[in-house]
Amino acid sequence: MNLTTLAAKAPKAELHLHIEGSFEPELMFAMAKRNDVKLPFASVEEVCAAYDFSNLQEFLDIYYQGMSVLLYEQDFYDLTWEYLTRAAKDNVIHTEIFFDPQGHTERGVKFADVVGGISRALADAKQQLGISSKLIMCFLRHLPEEDALATWGEAQEFLSLIDGVGLDSSELGHPPSKFKKVFALAKDAGLHLVAHAGEEGPPEYVWQALDELHIDRIDHGNRALEDQKLVEKLAGSGMCLTVCPLSNLKLCVVGDITEHPIRKMLQSGLLAMINSDDPSYFGGYVNDNYQAVIKGLGLSREEVETLLRNSFIGSFLDKSEKAVALDKLDQYLEKT
Ligand code: HPA
Ligand code: ZN
Repeated sequence: MNLTTLAAKAPKAELHLHIEGSFEPELMFAMAKRNDVKLPFASVEEVCAAYDFSNLQEFLDIYYQGMSVLLYEQDFYDLTWEYLTRAAKDNVIHTEIFFDPQGHTERGVKFADVVGGISRALADAKQQLGISSKLIMCFLRHLPEEDALATWGEAQEFLSLIDGVGLDSSELGHPPSKFKKVFALAKDAGLHLVAHAGEEGPPEYVWQALDELHIDRIDHGNRALEDQKLVEKLAGSGMCLTVCPLSNLKLCVVGDITEHPIRKMLQSGLLAMINSDDPSYFGGYVNDNYQAVIKGLGLSREEVETLLRNSFIGSFLDKSEKAVALDKLDQYLEKT
């Protein structure tokens, strides 16, 4: 069996997935029609043609337009369910999903409908697809911290459905330190903490995420490699980096997939793993991302196995759940 097939068939976890970024154009158009919302695109083909980005902001502008057709609880259910059935085909057995409540509540959508629809699909996926999950609420970093604090307030009655908080959207000019207060509140409430850092932003933003937000996991983290001291700190503490190769390519974080730093990350002792980020916008789900780096970099079997193992090690599953998942993966690898 070749390595791409080995990775594709392996049980795995996905830890960096924006549910609004899994919105396939076909579903987007169907929903626009049923909700009577106008999209700035005439057809699925026109949308896909617009998916040509030269940086994060160009992508985000289209990403926020796309999510504008999501209005009701059932919309969030359908969006999430479509991702989960697709993830099941990639043998994802555990997923940790981001959502952007501010992208919806600022349009008048009810917080309860956003979190309710997503959570209902996650519960069905556990029952019907055998996929376990965690839900991570992201704050939009281009907005003031006061807005994040208001969203934190709205989330209080739903905290039993929310496992962690994260930080996403436009990175440059919006350092992690801007969100110290709201992350401290989430930490006090016992939630897991993650933040996008070092995707476009400098290593200093990764330091801030560690030292000022006290995060448990870094999303992306590519630019951490520019700072040897930082690499040593991340490696020494076993900090997971949720890496997204096709996203990095589409947003020009790397010039070519053959230049992707995932091997360098592993060689530096970093706990890196593979994810799809916004699969419908970036040209592939998690197995496509494995395939891209396996082919692009000629990864070894050992490197692929490490990436698969890291997907569970870096998750927010508890110790015994991690042991069960890792055992399942090891059994698969032994017979393959
Ligand atoms: N980076 C930052 N914010 C995001 C992303 C991303 O890749 N996807 C959705 N929001
Ligand atoms: Zn992301």
